Amino acid sequence: MKGVFITFEGIEGSGKSTISRMIYEELLDRGISVIHTYEPGDTPLGREIRKILLDPDHKAMEPLTEILLYLADRVEHINKVIKPSLEKGTVVVSDRFSDSTIAYQGFGRGFPIDLLRELDGIVRAGTKPDITILFDLDVKEGLKRNKGANKIDRFELEEVEFHERVREGFLTLAKEEPGRFHIVDASRPLKDVYEEVKRIIFSFMGL
Ligand code: TMP
Repeated sequence: MKGVFITFEGIEGSGKSTISRMIYEELLDRGISVIHTYEPGDTPLGREIRKILLDPDHKAMEPLTEILLYLADRVEHINKVIKPSLEKGTVVVSDRFSDSTIAYQGFGRGFPIDLLRELDGIVRAGTKPDITILFDLDVKEGLKRNKGANKIDRFELEEVEFHERVREGFLTLAKEEPGRFHIVDASRPLKDVYEEVKRIIFSFMGL
């Protein structure tokens, strides 16, 4: 039996990391074989790549370097974590995946989307989320929440317009694949967002 591949996407400060962990805990409590994972950085090599990617000292990183580092992280993540788990029938809950590359490097940075899709397609080699929850939120609200968390990395240094393009990018991707994407309004209290996400995922999984 093949496991279910669930991804969480959205801009910074949308609450997707917290809620993806809560969903993981809930599935675990129900005795389901499940793992929680994230990009970039949830493999030994990925941890090193994440440090480079988020280091504010590398503000001047070339756009193509950035893309290749995210993709290198994804190769490790898919082959060492995601694929082996899905093959065992384990549910995989991932905080970010390929849609983040199209939204951030494509819509955000302006790298050609077709080319990005081609490169990402080579990396994924058929691995694709079964369902994606998109946390949608006003950019300024998201950045404010993140500042509260005292989190400053290379992306937090970007101007608001960059994050606006990323948000619009995610919404465009969701419109293209309405069967896979579920958009949730992340401006509501965490508990309400969680209940909605849980309902969507549990109904998808027939729980
Ligand atoms: P995180 O804050 O969700 O851990 O993600 C780290 C940053 O990496 C976040 O600003 C989004 C960015 N990112 C990309 O730009 N492209 C990608 O492909 C991924 C997975 C993340």
